[in-house]
Amino acid sequence: MTINDVKIVKLPKFSDPRGNLSFVEQLNHIPFEIRRTYWIYDVPGGENRGGHAFKENEEFIVALSGAFDVIVDDGEKKKTFTLNRSYYGLYVPSGLWRVMENFSTNSLALEFGSIHYDVNDYIRHYDDYLKMKKDGTI
Ligand code: TYD
Repeated sequence: MTINDVKIVKLPKFSDPRGNLSFVEQLNHIPFEIRRTYWIYDVPGGENRGGHAFKENEEFIVALSGAFDVIVDDGEKKKTFTLNRSYYGLYVPSGLWRVMENFSTNSLALEFGSIHYDVNDYIRHYDDYLKMKKDGTI
């Protein structure tokens, strides 16, 4: 996988004077079956989350509220995706290093995953990630 496999997905948006509505469907806007949903909130200014890669887990990330950046890195190239609208999602395939930063006050990051939580699915050290990319084990 490379950063070219990361995709911004525009979600449906029903604009309404009573308030807008958007939605996501698995195997439609999200290209995998959802096994897990979690959210990141109350991030103090200047903090970052998620400096790691997943061996198997695919992700779909939505900024339900506020804004933050997702920096994706395939070992050769890096790309920053700014999420700041609740009707856009970011698809991140497995095998990519990613960090989330620049969280705005009261931002809310919703994340869908393709597998259940598994501590062994994480690669937590960038050096290990680069090694695995080099030897083709990720
Ligand atoms: P972690 O994925 O390490 O957060 P980040 O990469 O954003 O810094 O998760 C933080 C803690 O939350 C970790 O100790 C395990 C727990 N956790 C779960 O139990 N289930 C989950 O689905 C997730 C994402 C985390």
